[in-house]
Order: sequence, then structure tokens, then C-alpha cells
Amino acid sequence: MALKDLFRKKSIQKIVQQGGDGEHGGLQKVLTVRDLTFFGIAAIIGGGTFSAIGNACFSGGPGVTLLYVICAIACGFTAMCYAEFASRVPVSGSAYTYAYVSFGELFAWIIGWALIMEYSIGNIYIAFSWSGYFTNLLEAVNIHLPEWLTINHHAAHEAFLANKPGEGLSAWQTAPMIGSLKVIFDLPAVVINLLITYLVYRGTKESKNFSNAMVYVKLLIILLIIVVGAFYIDIENWTPFMPHGFGGVMAGVSAVFFAYIGFDAVSTLAEESKNPQRDLPKGMIYSLVICTVLYIILALVLTGMVSYELLGVSDPLAEIFKLKGVKWMLYIVSVAAVVAMTSVMLVFQLGQPRIWMTMSRDGLMPEKFSKIHPKYKTPGFATIITGIVVGLPIFFTDENFVLDFTSIGTLFAFVLVCGGVLMLSPQSAEEMAERQTRGKFRIPYINSKYIFPILLVLSTVIVHYAFPDFFSNSFDFSGDSNALTANISMDIFFLFCIVMAVLAFLKNLSLIPLLGLVSCCYLLTGMALSNWKWFGLWLLIGLVIYFLYSRNNSKLNTTAEIAE
Ligand code: ALA
Repeated sequence: MALKDLFRKKSIQKIVQQGGDGEHGGLQKVLTVRDLTFFGIAAIIGGGTFSAIGNACFSGGPGVTLLYVICAIACGFTAMCYAEFASRVPVSGSAYTYAYVSFGELFAWIIGWALIMEYSIGNIYIAFSWSGYFTNLLEAVNIHLPEWLTINHHAAHEAFLANKPGEGLSAWQTAPMIGSLKVIFDLPAVVINLLITYLVYRGTKESKNFSNAMVYVKLLIILLIIVVGAFYIDIENWTPFMPHGFGGVMAGVSAVFFAYIGFDAVSTLAEESKNPQRDLPKGMIYSLVICTVLYIILALVLTGMVSYELLGVSDPLAEIFKLKGVKWMLYIVSVAAVVAMTSVMLVFQLGQPRIWMTMSRDGLMPEKFSKIHPKYKTPGFATIITGIVVGLPIFFTDENFVLDFTSIGTLFAFVLVCGGVLMLSPQSAEEMAERQTRGKFRIPYINSKYIFPILLVLSTVIVHYAFPDFFSNSFDFSGDSNALTANISMDIFFLFCIVMAVLAFLKNLSLIPLLGLVSCCYLLTGMALSNWKWFGLWLLIGLVIYFLYSRNNSKLNTTAEIAE
């Protein structure tokens, strides 16, 4: 096998010819720009906002608002890159397909593999968070599930080992036994996964109507939380702004980034959109802008209402109203959380099978994954497998692990998408004009030749003066393992920026994808050592499967679809 075969690319023309209206047509084209924007919001506002934000505020203090701005910048540039690809390659595979045309088959496979973390593993976190708020609601109407049915086995075992009083320990002590196994699992999380899988299996139109309705409810309630919460803000709570320094703020990167994930899922609906090349980019960008504004205000309200030290809980939006004695808001927040997380699960559960479907069409996954259900017009088999991939780990994993895992995998995909746009060949003047007249999106080209190196020097100077210890800490290799990883990551990042500045100067790179690439790489520096280890293992398993199965079955072995 020649090395260059690993990087064989599919031609864009062939992909477009096969997907959408082409050989593989069959999905219902029902989605408009409004639906796509709603799908984006449905996917974005969920567990990150209602659960993970609590620990991020706890570690970062009010300064977590900065992290929301940083993540918004990274996601904003990335959304433009997704939009550029979506308008050039309007098929369902999302980042996977984009990598196939820009980096070649091996990277495409790796991205497809990493996206499982975003959509399937991400949904495990959301199912757990959903269950937490749903159980609160049941309690409110006096329905009490036994504790061994509301927590995962892993968390209960940890609580037992640490002898930590609370739900986990009590579940461990009261659980029934089967042989020597304690029966402890999160029943609501299992049930919601089953229901969502069924809904997605039944059809996109049904899912769309349900999702649109849920988005209205969650937007209204988030606005209500902001308005009511604003009356309880005490500006004293905003000082100190960064109680644990910038390191404390960056400790929340998995959680805050997770809150933004989802705009990209819109791109998996390319083949169900009426006019994907025009509407997908709009749907992604509109939904991201709306959510960014809401998030920044929400973070300010949250950290302004109570001391950040009280926010390290799994239901922070309910907690703030509990602490302020606003009981009626407690129930409203719990309803909103349940609705919001249901809609995220729905969109992710729609996205995953469509990526597998596309990989299967290329021969990288077994053929069954691309079979469309004759009656419901959905990728039925892939949808069921998604349900199983989300459902089984609910029995043996816990939420913190899956949160970190999701964020690192998704960031990795974002890095490759931004890099992919940098690698795309420039379009001819005629192609550009054609895209403009047909209302298709394109990233404005801004030459980074001088701008990027100047930005790099400026930000280095600003960081040096604003955080005098930043660079000396960065080259200090004597701390604990997490601090050490942070320092090494930061040094690698800094070198990477210098290399990119040289490339920008030599190759006149396009500024927007370049900034997307660099800002996503910056967020990756916030990941802990343990996340990198698990991520490495995951990639390794993916590579083994690629070399044992996918490579041998790739359609590129037998057809003339390779790009010149
Ligand atoms: N952004 C989505 C959420 O927070 C994944 O649930």
C-alpha cells in the first residue's frame, strides 16, 4: 500500500453528484432556513447551559464570562468554515465529508470516528443531566423514584468508596442485588434515550415539528431567567472577577465549549434541506449568534446573583433561585431544562446516523448503515445503532468523563474543518460569481499575510503585560501533572502560532479559517492530561478499525472517484 493512498481524496463533484438529489437521494427535503436555525438552537442550548455551567462558574468565578467570549470567537470562525464547506459540499456527512475532500481518506475516517464523541458520547452526558432535572420535577409532584434508579452505577460506587453522604451512597446501600451485582442505573436517562431514538427513527418531519416547539419554550424560559435574575444581581458578586486566576477560568473550558457545540450538527441535515447551499450557512450562523448573546448575559446574571462559590452544583440555574427563595422559578427552570435537553438529544441523535450513513456510502462502514427505511425515509439501521451506542454506556459510565471526552473530540473535528478550509483550492472568478448570484455562502477572503503576524505579536505583548507570570509559568516544568500538561500544551501552542505566522506570510492564507484554527487549538490547551490519554486511545482503536476494515472496503479502491 503506497503511503499516498492514505490521503486519497474524493472529488467534490462526485460527492455532490452522489448525495442529495443524486444517486443516494431518498431523504425528505423539508427543512427551511428557519427550521435549520431552530435545529441549531435546539442543539446548542442544553446540558452545558443547565448543568455544566455550574462547575465552570465555580472554578472560574465571574471571569467565566471571558471564556464564553473566547469560545464564541472560536466557534464563530469555525461556523464560518462549516458554512463554507456546507455551501460547497451540501451532503449529510458534515466534517467527515469535508475532510474527505480536503485532507483525504485517513483524516476523513479519523474525523468520522471523532464525531462519535460529539454526537453519541455527548448525548450520554445530556441524558444524565436530563435525568437530574426530570427527577427534580417528579419530586415536585411527589413521585419519588428509588435512588438506585436515578444515578449511574459508577457515581454510586465512587460515593461509596469516598463514604460521601448523599444520593450515591444511599443508592449503593439500598440497591437490590442480582447475584453479586448491585442493580443501580439511571432509569430516566435510559428511557429518554429510547424515546428519542424512536422519534428520530420515525421521521425527520415529526422530529422537526417537535424540535421547533421545544425551541420556543426554551428560548422564552431562558429570557425569563435572565429578566427575573437581573433583579437579584448584586454587583459585589462580580469581584474578584477571576478568583482563581486565568487558570481557574480555563479549567471550565470543557463545560463552556460543550455549551456551544451543536451549531455544526445543522450541517448533517444538508440532504433534508430545501436549499442547503444557501440555508445551511445561515442556519448555523444565526443560531450561534443568538446563543452567544444569551450565554454571555446568562453567565453575568448567574455570577451576579450569588457568590460563584455556591454554583458548583449540577443544577445551577435552579440553585440560584432556590438560594434567593424564588420557588416558582424553580419549577419553571426544571421544565425548561428538561425541554432544552430533550431537543439537544433529538438533534444529536439525528446527526450521528447521518454521518454513519455517509461513511457507509463511501464503503468505510458496512452497507446497512446507509439503508433508508422505505416508509419513514430515515437511515433506520444507523438510527437504532446510535440508540444502542448512547444507551449502553449509560449503565457504566459517569457524566464528567463523557463531558471532557465530548469536548476534546469535537474540538479536534473543528480544528480539522478550519484546517480543511485553508487547504481548499481557491475557486475561480466564475465559480465565485455563480455562488454569489445564487445566494450561496462564501467566506470573505482577507489576506492574513501581515495581519496574522501582527496580531500574534500584539497578543503576546498584551498577555505579557496583563499576566506578567504567564510566560515564565508556561516554561516551568516542575508543577503537578495537570499544570505540567497545561504548560507543555501552551508551549506547543505558541510554537504552532509562530509556524502559522510564517505560513500566513509565505502563502497568503485566508484570515478567517486561520483564526478559527488557532482559536480552537487554543481551547485544546485547556484539556487535562487524562483527557488526552483517553482521546489517544480512542483514536488508536479507530485506526485499527480503519486498517482492518474500512480501508479494504473503501469505494475508492474500485471506483474512479479520486480527486486529481
Ligand atoms: N451544546 C449542547 C448542550 O449544551 C451540547 O447540551
